[in-house]
Amino acid sequence: MPTLFDHHDLGSRLVLKNRVVMAPMTRTRTSDGDVPNALMATYYGQRAGAGLIVTEATDVAPHSKGYVRTPGIYTDAQVEGWRSVTREVHRNGGVIFLQIWHVGRLAHTSLMPNGEAPCGATDERASESDVFVAHDAHGRLVFERASPPRPIRTDEIPGLVDDFTLAFRNANRAGFDGVEIHAANGYLFEQFMNSSLNTRTDGYGGATPQTRTRLLLEVVDAAGREMGPDRVGVRLSPYGHYGSMPADPHVEETLLYLCDALSRRAVAYLHLVYQLQPRGNAQDSEFNETHLGDDLVRKVREAFQGSLIWTGGFTGGTAQTALETGWVDLIGFGRPFIANPDLVARLQNGWPLAEADRSAMYTRNGEKGYTDFPSFDPGPEADAPGGRA
Ligand SMILES: Cc1cc2nc3c(=O)[nH]c(=O)nc-3n(C[C@H](O)[C@H](O)[C@H](O)COP(=O)(O)O)c2cc1C
Repeated sequence: MPTLFDHHDLGSRLVLKNRVVMAPMTRTRTSDGDVPNALMATYYGQRAGAGLIVTEATDVAPHSKGYVRTPGIYTDAQVEGWRSVTREVHRNGGVIFLQIWHVGRLAHTSLMPNGEAPCGATDERASESDVFVAHDAHGRLVFERASPPRPIRTDEIPGLVDDFTLAFRNANRAGFDGVEIHAANGYLFEQFMNSSLNTRTDGYGGATPQTRTRLLLEVVDAAGREMGPDRVGVRLSPYGHYGSMPADPHVEETLLYLCDALSRRAVAYLHLVYQLQPRGNAQDSEFNETHLGDDLVRKVREAFQGSLIWTGGFTGGTAQTALETGWVDLIGFGRPFIANPDLVARLQNGWPLAEADRSAMYTRNGEKGYTDFPSFDPGPEADAPGGRA
């Protein structure tokens, strides 16, 4: 059975040095023009001990934007900024994929070009959801309720796919090892995939798994053409409610259809964000296959041929147990990477984990709460014969 610290072949061209994935995390630290900067290069470079880094969600175009200070990948300045990030990660021996998104209806007019309405699968508003549109003078977030959207017209979809194509081309130029398409957490692709929300009657409507997933698969195909399919991952969050997503009676049917369609396209990985309630409360020692509750992940494993990443509330102990089920290949960690740049070394050596202050997750206070977390210092006995390291 593999351990978290064994290497893993991702696609046919990449070898990950361990099975720990840094999950994508929006941190709102970009410079003006949504340009990645030197601080971000330091942040990602510090975390290059992960087998794979997936960056924060990155906009394909100005109209894909839902939150303030998220990076883009559609201008030359943004490509240059990202190049400094990939260079630093590669210099430190890491592998890095760019997470690419379009937020769809989870947006506010104040961040849209010309103050226009955000566009979604339909005109149904995310009426329970707030988005952060600015920082105040203290660097804290200012929230607004997501604006009423307008449905994307069928004749606009080819242009949307072209926006993604440009983003994938730019990701290549910026030196990324691959891209992850963000089809989770209530954003554009999930708005199309949800059979309750997607009431469209065109070829992208909610009637069948084929039509619900058509937009996503057109974008996956565009990524495959630009990057090669073995450099493409897709993130999904079955049964997630984030973004005012309504319950979807066809979620499993859509998921398994996608697994098959993505296998046929030979994409590198599927990244599941999936957290069962009992697991959050379980002690490491209690966590076992029974605790996984249902067998959705096992079904995905059977239906999908590529690598499988599983993220959501893992500790080092539960991650190892999950790997040992054989259902997944890689485990994603989000929040633990914020305060532990050397997370892999800490897990491997049983060193304690630092806790991040929640209030610093999205602030604009320079290094504070971002790049100022030290690596663990095991002390002199670690170097002594018989020491821990
Ligand atoms: C500060 C923060 C920002 C996040 N931003 C993103 C994002 O940009 N894209 C995404 O797919 N998920 C995002 N997530 C979700 C994480 O990738 C992850 O799925 C979630 O935190 C659960 O994993 P964990 O329990 O290990 O933190 C974010 C989470 C946090 C805490």
